[in-house]
Amino acid sequence: MAEEIIAGLDIGTTKVSVLIGERDGDELNILGIGTAHSDGLRRGVIVNMEKTIQAIAQAAETAERTAGVEISTVYAGIAGEHIQSVNSRGAIAIPRGDLGIAAKDIARAFEAAKALQIPMDRQVIHLLPQEFIVDDQRGIPDPKGMHGVRLEVLVHIVTGATTSVQNQFKCIKQAGLELGEMVLDSYASSYSVLSSDEKELGVVLLDMGGGTTDLAVFFEGSIRHSSVIPLGGRNITSDIAIGLRTPLDQAEEIKRQHCSAVNGASEQEALIEVPAVGGRSTRKISSEQLSSIVGPRMEEIFSFANREIKKSGYDDLLGAGVVVTGGGALMPGTVELAEQVFGMPAQLGVPQKVSGLVDADTAPLHATGIGLIRYGMSQQESNEWSGKSQNGMLGRMAGRMRQWFDDLS
Ligand SMILES: Nc1ncnc2c1ncn2[C@@H]1O[C@H](COP(=O)(O)OP(=O)(O)OP(=O)(O)O)[C@@H](O)[C@H]1O
Ligand SMILES: [Mg+2]
Repeated sequence: MAEEIIAGLDIGTTKVSVLIGERDGDELNILGIGTAHSDGLRRGVIVNMEKTIQAIAQAAETAERTAGVEISTVYAGIAGEHIQSVNSRGAIAIPRGDLGIAAKDIARAFEAAKALQIPMDRQVIHLLPQEFIVDDQRGIPDPKGMHGVRLEVLVHIVTGATTSVQNQFKCIKQAGLELGEMVLDSYASSYSVLSSDEKELGVVLLDMGGGTTDLAVFFEGSIRHSSVIPLGGRNITSDIAIGLRTPLDQAEEIKRQHCSAVNGASEQEALIEVPAVGGRSTRKISSEQLSSIVGPRMEEIFSFANREIKKSGYDDLLGAGVVVTGGGALMPGTVELAEQVFGMPAQLGVPQKVSGLVDADTAPLHATGIGLIRYGMSQQESNEWSGKSQNGMLGRMAGRMRQWFDDLS
């Protein structure tokens, strides 16, 4: 696999997809996509290894065939209700402040931040620096070489249940792939749908998937808060199935064809035909009836998200508003409803600067997959650029994580 070709593996609750991309200057050219039906996850967590392995292998094979290249290493997304995030800080004294802060001092500050109680049954997925403080000087992105006697780092720590992380790792291996790095889904999506200006100004990313809705808050260029809400498009589908007493696959079809998050967002048809369970008869219902099922569930998901945004403490600072992506965001009226519930400007999150095999209309479905490739590219760039940079250091930590996993398998 050439250096410039990177693969992302998005293991979702409704679909497993592998995307293969190639850097083309500033653009990303998608050479291959393989998608397989996912039936091995519940609320973002792998519950059936066999089905998940098969789906990964099938998606990888299709992507390789369409791209005409073989892949070995993938950047894989991870999500699910076992994910937890906290902000932490680590402070250390610099023994020889007159020599300037060295990479090993930065590493010690990270270690100190990580020393906070991470339970034995949890595994660190990300240690993302927000800012460094040298003596009393705040807001330093990279303190290397600076003079000072005290170094502090503020970090966002993302952890997952060790068992869930291990299960995912095993599935990837058994599907015949090597893991480059595991990346939190919403963090990966931020690499494809958010601009650096938005992250600087303050923005919330909401990735509405089938099983979960993932949220990440950015301010002054760094991630400040993240969380996973265990509700998604599948809940809406089952609400429709229960409310209209129709089979799940029909409910999914009705949702995609006729539903909107707010009244009047899509073309209103007089009556919609609904097949009954068992296929014996059909009934007709109005689009208002449909809205009365879908609207409250969408509102519920957004209210949970709103609570998380308030919890982050950045709710008044998000100049760039809300960006909604993922398959769930394809429902007409989603952006409108988001503006109402969050009281901020909202927009649909579409992967930026991509060409090739991605269909523009459904691109939000691939926000995570494309973001994983972008993340992989940025890691490779920072590794090339310096083995000792902040990112390089995080890269080495990822290397340690890989080693840890290799020992396990
Ligand atoms: N046009 C549409 N209108 C409404 N919902 C849609 C539409 N197209 C897809 N969806 C919904 O999007 C969801 C799938 O989104 P996505 O592919 O982002 O999820 P996933 O990555 O598989 O799941 P997760 O991220 O939760 O693990 C499904 O629930 C599907 O019903
Ligand atoms: Mg997803």
